[in-house]
Amino acid sequence: MANVSLQHVYKVYQNADGKISPNAKPAVSDFCMEIEDKEFIVFVGPSGCGKSTTLRMIAGLEEITDGEIYIDGKLINDVEPKDRDIAMVFQNYALYPHMTVYDNMAFSLRLRKVDDIKRAKDGTPILDEAGNTIPIKRKYTKAEIDEKVQEAARILAIEEYLGRKPKALSGGQRQRVALGRTIVRQPKVFLLDEPLSNLDAKLRAAMRSEIIKLHDKLGATFIYVTHDQVEAMTMGTRIVVMKDGFVQQIGAPQHLYDSPANVFVAGFIGTPQMNFFDGHITPDGVITFANNQRVVLPKHVLQSFDLDKIGSGLDIVMGIRPGDLKLVNEPVADGGVSARVSVIEALGNETIIYADMDKDSDFSLDRTPTTITASVKVRNNPARKDEIYLAFDLECIHLFDKATELTLKK
Ligand SMILES: Nc1ncnc2c1ncn2[C@@H]1O[C@H](COP(=O)(O)OP(=O)(O)O)[C@@H](O)[C@H]1O
Ligand SMILES: [Mg+2]
Repeated sequence: MANVSLQHVYKVYQNADGKISPNAKPAVSDFCMEIEDKEFIVFVGPSGCGKSTTLRMIAGLEEITDGEIYIDGKLINDVEPKDRDIAMVFQNYALYPHMTVYDNMAFSLRLRKVDDIKRAKDGTPILDEAGNTIPIKRKYTKAEIDEKVQEAARILAIEEYLGRKPKALSGGQRQRVALGRTIVRQPKVFLLDEPLSNLDAKLRAAMRSEIIKLHDKLGATFIYVTHDQVEAMTMGTRIVVMKDGFVQQIGAPQHLYDSPANVFVAGFIGTPQMNFFDGHITPDGVITFANNQRVVLPKHVLQSFDLDKIGSGLDIVMGIRPGDLKLVNEPVADGGVSARVSVIEALGNETIIYADMDKDSDFSLDRTPTTITASVKVRNNPARKDEIYLAFDLECIHLFDKATELTLKK
């Protein structure tokens, strides 16, 4: 069992003189989350948004400025890192180059003490005068260490490399050894900070599925940090999207994709990125956007939005994913737009069309208020400068309050 609870956690870094400036911006603000046992949680967000800081506070490598962190219901704010039953893997895992793979994995176990009771040579417990066992701390035996290293090597399929030095391994094998060093300790919580970002794209994809399998095998709680939304979407049971030290949204990958809470999450999750248009909506669902383009929401779609907030009309940001646009032969009144193609990317299984609703555009790739991206599956692709008609899947339109950038979904 290992659930992790973060309650109103803040981090403000100190200056070099050890003081906190009165106007210092927190690196992490009011982080609240209940992580259940055996979850695979991914912290995702742009560089500098506070992912590593949060992870390091859980690990005990960074002091918590305010708030509480509990592991298994136990307040750990002031517990030493080594006593937290966690293990951490970093992007820059440093293996000891002069040691074999076996010794790299055995190393931390040789330093560790385990709880045991005082025993005679034959293993029978020695009792005190009151007849109780006597608790002691002792080192792991050679046999115990060997069992743990062999077990980790088996799980990671690196048994045949145990005698090699790190320099005789590929990048992926080295990364597996780095994971092995944490597995041998059998921690309740694994913390991984961008462990794959030094690997090439192909290896990264392979290691991604290995880590997912590892999580299944170990039955431990994983917290994984990445700036890569694809990694987040494919690995997490739940994802935490962060920006500027603030949690933006927590949810299952599909939930974040379907129901982003704000413009930032909508734009961060999903490739190609969601199209956004500044616009205005009336209470009867007429949306004008991007130089007098217009779509009208069917009643049942309109009712899925907060009509109180729309009131007598509201300035909005409208979002539509490229995959929710369809290439059609005729203009669609109140449900689509016409545009001129700027660039075509034919990927084989799909085609990404970059187009401009302003017919007099200069066909550059720059995003303007009238550019629109569609991802379509067609065999006869349009050509550059063709006029095309795009139909909106009106059920998939996202609306955000322009002032707050928060979703208008009920
Ligand atoms: N040791 C530190 N001292 C001062 N500021 C730091 C320190 N570490 C990180 N920061 C700042 O805290 C913010 C969050 O950093 P970090 O948690 O490393 O972000 P991420 O891992 O999401 O890229 C950034 O603005 C960063 O510059
Ligand atoms: Mg980081």
